[in-house]
Amino acid sequence: MIDNNQIIPVRPTPLNDYPGPLKLLWMLRKDLLSIWPTSAYQEEFFGGPVMNQHMYVANSPATVEHVLVKNNDNYERKSPYMRKALEPLLGDGLFVSDGALWRERRRLEQPAFHPSHFQTYGNIMADVVADTCDRWKKEHIDKEVMILPEMAWLTAEIISQSMFDYPLGLNKAKQIVEGFADFQASVEQFDLSAFFGWPKWLPNMPQRRRVSHNAGKIHVIVEDIIAMGNAGKLRNNTLLSQLLAVQDSESSITRMSSEQIRNEAVVILMAGHETTANSLAWAIYLISQYPHVEEKLLEELKIVLNGRPARYEDISSLKYTRAIFEEAMRLYPPVPVLSRVALEEETICDRNVPKDSIMLVIPWLLHRHELLWHKPNHFIPERFMDGWPHKHDKYAYVPFSAGPRFCLGAAFGLMEATICLASIMQNFSLSMSPRFTPGYECRLTLRPSNGLPMVIKKRE
Ligand code: HEM
Repeated sequence: MIDNNQIIPVRPTPLNDYPGPLKLLWMLRKDLLSIWPTSAYQEEFFGGPVMNQHMYVANSPATVEHVLVKNNDNYERKSPYMRKALEPLLGDGLFVSDGALWRERRRLEQPAFHPSHFQTYGNIMADVVADTCDRWKKEHIDKEVMILPEMAWLTAEIISQSMFDYPLGLNKAKQIVEGFADFQASVEQFDLSAFFGWPKWLPNMPQRRRVSHNAGKIHVIVEDIIAMGNAGKLRNNTLLSQLLAVQDSESSITRMSSEQIRNEAVVILMAGHETTANSLAWAIYLISQYPHVEEKLLEELKIVLNGRPARYEDISSLKYTRAIFEEAMRLYPPVPVLSRVALEEETICDRNVPKDSIMLVIPWLLHRHELLWHKPNHFIPERFMDGWPHKHDKYAYVPFSAGPRFCLGAAFGLMEATICLASIMQNFSLSMSPRFTPGYECRLTLRPSNGLPMVIKKRE
């Protein structure tokens, strides 16, 4: 840590070349980030047959725009691996569905994300993070705390109150977070049986049982919430009330079974808490490594907040706070791989892409692409501020995906992260636990490893 500008936050060292196919498949099961050679951080479009499956990576703004936006019709379907990994938990929920079903569900859920609700959501965010800060002041000062689960409890509470009007409380929040963590741990990063098209019953029986068991733990809690909604005990005008309103619909297109309602509620809980929690944890880790960033952040918090809690009205002024979070999502995109299947054959960059090929957009690679970013592996929040001279291309930065499947909760997540980060950093200074070497875990999402233990001190 001699020169602040020279520190490179944790990442795998790129390989000199691709590993052979068998080693590659083995590595894929464990970690999707460490398999890439230096060339993958420089190329525009690459891939080809891997064993019996064609796989391509769109790795430039133009090819990403082509796949996710301009020719999205050909790539609207998530890859079979992604669908298979998430199916036990989400069924046909919005995150994995496609075609008419996806369009109908997206139309149904969209109103909950209308800006007219943001004042209400902002108040919930401010209140919930204030509770977390109070608890830390009572229980954790000068102690080592696992930051990742703390952030996940915080964001699970916020999403449940905002979308369902259901206060989880710490115990249920912990159960949900643990349930999702267990589920992710039981899902293989890269399912070999799906890759080779093996029948479902062949090699993965115990693993599949574990996956179903872990999904069941989350379903039980969500079913309780839905029962409260059905009993009229939760506020109307929430995402849950919108879902419940169509359960008895006359039309077979809009009618939803109780299982489908549960699936959608699980999508919102899952997509709505883990990604933001991971990025908040990464942002806190990064701030702890860069004192000059922390100093600049505190200056902004002093000018904008001067000691009072952050609120909805402060969002537009907390520009540097938000830039830190955006830069954390660039370096550690919470959804590091977006995978689709090609419905029809086509040509991209003079390469033939056969029907049924897997098409990947890998924010992890794109966000660190050497031709698209100035000092791609460095933490420089100023990239996201006005006046930065090396502006990035719109489709070089896709933490929320792009095109029709753009994250439904992107604006919600950005507001939530800004309010939470401002409130936490204003109250506490956090430093890495001396016995801990930071690392990452990459499964369906990308998070800091081992819960990110940090020591919390109260700011004077
Ligand atoms: C930092 C925070 C977040 C990040 C980085 C993030 C990222 C993403 C990404 C990359 C996708 C698309 C995945 C794909 O195309 O394969 C997505 C979809 C989605 N996200 Fe988020 N998300 C965040 C927060 C949220 C929040 C707070 C909510 C809900 C309140 C949410 C709800 C959704 C939903 C429902 C989808 C599926 C949309 C569709 O397929 O139509 N996300 N998110």
